[in-house]
Amino acid sequence: MAGVSDFQGKWALITGASSGIGAALARDLSARGAKLILTARRRDRLESLAAELGAKGTETRIVVADLNDPAAPQQIFAATEGADLSIDILVNNAGLGQYGAFHMNPEEQELSQVRVNCEAVVRLSRLFVPRMVERRRGWVLIVASTASFQPIPYSTTYAATKVFDRFFALGLAAEVAQYGINVTALCPGPTESEFFDVAGAGIFRERGVQPTEEVARLGIDALARGQRTIIPHFQGRLTAFLVRFFPIGLITRFLEGQLRPKSPVVSK
Ligand SMILES: NC(=O)c1ccc[n+]([C@@H]2O[C@H](COP(=O)([O-])OP(=O)(O)OC[C@H]3O[C@@H](n4cnc5c(N)ncnc54)[C@H](OP(=O)(O)O)[C@@H]3O)[C@@H](O)[C@H]2O)c1
Repeated sequence: MAGVSDFQGKWALITGASSGIGAALARDLSARGAKLILTARRRDRLESLAAELGAKGTETRIVVADLNDPAAPQQIFAATEGADLSIDILVNNAGLGQYGAFHMNPEEQELSQVRVNCEAVVRLSRLFVPRMVERRRGWVLIVASTASFQPIPYSTTYAATKVFDRFFALGLAAEVAQYGINVTALCPGPTESEFFDVAGAGIFRERGVQPTEEVARLGIDALARGQRTIIPHFQGRLTAFLVRFFPIGLITRFLEGQLRPKSPVVSK
């Protein structure tokens, strides 16, 4: 799509807005004049971000929802489109990971990654995109990861969910471009957030992390100009390019050696 979109006065729904990249995306969209629906499980965090952005003149509402619950996307839809708020910008950002041996990781944490990182993305997109098609206008940002460019042993389920996100975004982008809708896959590398604490994955912090503000700005810039994939970190772009030239089995074996937990990791 030609040109750069203007988000002034448009409603944006941001999942996972209570921390990290989601909160940074909310601040960025607020600075561009968008009105915001913030959703996540932690009400206090959402309220404090809504107060911060409200003080800057941004109209902001919160919807507390647990995306592990398959009914949550419909509840979010009812609280927004159902209440005559036309959502022009859908940001599927909520997500979680897990570091550790797959056979020892808590089953619930493995399944939660599939539900929140994949199922909720499909449910929310299936609810909001048809309205965008009707209006012949819309923007969908899906937060994938550089983890989507190769398997990642010991974050096996996580990397698989992020391949899903990236391919889902690319396929949807190709389908809905004809209706004037931009879809962008944002593929951050290690980014400073609570992600590593939730995932027990401090190992991925060791080579440095990118600030959330930078990731958010580059992601929203890409969405505004209709770019289908954005990898905000140079090292991530380089890795995504280089992996094309090596057998996937070789890369995966290499990473297994690099990432094998020093002592068996049993998550709580
Ligand atoms: N940080 C990185 O290095 C990195 C790299 C690549 C991609 N990403 C992706 O970036 C996205 C945001 O992660 P982050 O780095 O900002 O991590 P974060 O600080 O842990 O934020 C995760 C967000 O997702 C929400 N969330 C998690 N489970 C949820 C559930 N069941 N229902 C509703 N909301 C839920 C959390 O809110 P509540 O806990 O309040 O519900 C929180 O707002 C994720 O999709 C992640 O995969 C992160």
